[in-house]
Amino acid sequence: MITSINQFLSNSGKSMKRSAIREILKHLQKPGMISFAGGLPAPETFPINDLREIIDEILEKDGPESLQYGTTEGDPLLRRMLVERHNRQGLKIGIENLIITSASQQALDLIAKIFLDPGDYVLCGLPSYLGGINAFTFYGAKLKGIALDKDGMKPDELEETIIILKELGRKVKFIYLIPDFQNPSGITIPESRRLKIIEIAEKYNLLIVEDSPYREVRFDGESQKLMYELDTTGRVIALFTFSKIFAPGFRVGWVIGHPEILDKLVMAKQTADLCTSAFVQRIIARYIEKGLLEKNLKKTIALYRERRTHMITCFRKYMPEGVSWTEPQGGLFLFVTLPPRLDTDELFKKALEKNVAFVAGSSFFCNNSGHDTMRINFSFSNKEEIETGVKRLSEVIREELNCK
Ligand SMILES: Cc1ncc(COP(=O)(O)O)c(C=O)c1O
Repeated sequence: MITSINQFLSNSGKSMKRSAIREILKHLQKPGMISFAGGLPAPETFPINDLREIIDEILEKDGPESLQYGTTEGDPLLRRMLVERHNRQGLKIGIENLIITSASQQALDLIAKIFLDPGDYVLCGLPSYLGGINAFTFYGAKLKGIALDKDGMKPDELEETIIILKELGRKVKFIYLIPDFQNPSGITIPESRRLKIIEIAEKYNLLIVEDSPYREVRFDGESQKLMYELDTTGRVIALFTFSKIFAPGFRVGWVIGHPEILDKLVMAKQTADLCTSAFVQRIIARYIEKGLLEKNLKKTIALYRERRTHMITCFRKYMPEGVSWTEPQGGLFLFVTLPPRLDTDELFKKALEKNVAFVAGSSFFCNNSGHDTMRINFSFSNKEEIETGVKRLSEVIREELNCK
């Protein structure tokens, strides 16, 4: 038996850490647990009967093709349908601007793989999506967090940070943004701020990674233009996924961007998984072709709107003074701030004892701040669970406030 595998590990293998959120999810199987922790879509939105029919049809009509290896760029039928869908929404892209990935997490990994050398800098929000932060640090990148205000990443701080890093001789490669219903803060960046950030990226010749899984899960208000659409210099790479608008189990997403960037991503994908499942891609293509995606998405949005509103009602009813939260117009999360003397990492263990879970906010801050914040998911639990869970959470917070 070998005594330690460390001697065999690469530097990146040694520095790998398990995702805090995925670790939490493993402990939530306890009976009676109400979890506001994961970013899980509601299983009621999964269209099982429609899929059964479509799968039968595909096996009958496209069987050999759909069960074969596919091209790395993705199923041409699905790519064409996505290009047409984007163009109907105002973009002007061709099939050369779009490739399929094994969901957005793979796209984040491939982007890191083709752009980041150890020591390169990525600028991200404070807070920002943990899976993005982990993908970039895995390749040795340094993350520098930029504070957010109600309109997202602060442009002044962004520019000052770039100037300081450049003066220190550091290489900044890209700005990582989730402009629509940001995970975890729920903030959407308005068009004027998007344009300002693009202007800064242009001035300092940086790329922008626009990660957008929640864009189409909008309950109220006006949709903002994609940063990809606002940019005129080909520096925005936009990532999308079927995970939150259809089913995360399919593991399918897509990237739009400059053809030369996509070409490199395709090469990187060839060494990762050769291609995304051709069978699954064909199922999604037929699902879209039949008009079912739009129909199902409408129902999903209505369900999440109801749950978001109910979650906010329960927060207003049960939470003690000093607790504040965002009231997002879309997405899957509320972001909660507690009085600063409370630490949500500590609170988490007490919440688990009361059978309610959340994600401690510090996981999303690359500078290890945010200890008084938490992320709360409202898409997964039903209304009764939401009420019981918020009540339990408020009790834990009250007890903690009384002790301190
Ligand atoms: C901002 C963001 N990016 C990427 C992902 C990864 O999603 P997937 O790999 O399921 O497409 C998530 C998942 O929650 C996310 O919130």
